Amino acid sequence: MAEDGLIPENMRPTSSSNYVNPDAQVDEHGNRMKTMTDYEVLKEIGEGSFSVVYAARERAGQKREAAIKTCFKKQIIKLGKVASVFREKRVLQTLSEAESCSPFIVQLIATFQDENHLYFVLSYAKYGDLLQVQMKRPDRKFMKEEAKFYAAELWMALTHIHGHDFVHLDVKLENILVKSDGHTMLSDFGCVKDLNEKDEKLDPRIRHSAIMPGTAQYVSPEILQRDPVTPSCDIWAFGVVIYQLLTGKHCFHDESEYLIFKRIQKLLYKFPDEFPEDAKDLVEKILVLQPTERLGAVESGGGEAVAKHAFFEGIEWDKLHETQPPITL
Ligand code: ADE
Repeated sequence: MAEDGLIPENMRPTSSSNYVNPDAQVDEHGNRMKTMTDYEVLKEIGEGSFSVVYAARERAGQKREAAIKTCFKKQIIKLGKVASVFREKRVLQTLSEAESCSPFIVQLIATFQDENHLYFVLSYAKYGDLLQVQMKRPDRKFMKEEAKFYAAELWMALTHIHGHDFVHLDVKLENILVKSDGHTMLSDFGCVKDLNEKDEKLDPRIRHSAIMPGTAQYVSPEILQRDPVTPSCDIWAFGVVIYQLLTGKHCFHDESEYLIFKRIQKLLYKFPDEFPEDAKDLVEKILVLQPTERLGAVESGGGEAVAKHAFFEGIEWDKLHETQPPITL
């Protein structure tokens, strides 16, 4: 993949005799690529260090709503994010292919670019992220049945990603999006690690995660220790999410990142009295310092071990995406 001018080969305009739209490019199959003129921008719904996300609607066809992540090329280069943006695109493409897509993961509908921007067109989540939804609940936390449902959907997303040898590395409520039907999808693959990526082997700083990915409260002890990244890093964050769904609070909370990291390394957290016993048992089996000993790690029962845990009793895993979500939004 040529990343010199920030335009990989499959995103470069190629010559075509069927020249129609002066802005439009064609992909490697000769299909006309979309441009921003194909969408009506509705509103801004998010921003990152090098991107802004807009809600938009297709102007033609089914007129579907979509989220368009607009990335600023200059900013990507300035922040040294060229490789990670292309990794994000590649991973999203893989996870959006018909044979490897999941209802619990945001879908990449199209990519295109202009002189200054790269655009990612993504499936749209009408209700925003799960933290926003949680903030509107009584006591700013979820009831047990609600937490169980969202945790189960997240577990489906994670086992799917891990099955493709990807580690998300930024699992948190802000990256779980709630669709119009009340189901969720995991988004934001900006920190993703591809366990089969060859280039990373050349760069031991990345392999051993010296560049700390993710968000302080969810970061696993092995990342803090600069140990290799494995799917278990996401499993740790999954445990942190279950605690947060049920309490509305972070289990590892303190005044500074430094103090949060100390708490993580010493496994210093407490459950409130009303925390359900079966959820407590699950979180305690996940928030284990040794990555291979975490429930759900391949060495500790894999995905099945979590799915069979008492906390998830009643979840119909095979029909989860067809079941009625617990909250009417
Ligand atoms: N914010 C970021 N990505 C989004 C998406 N796909 N849908 C709605 N809001 C978002």
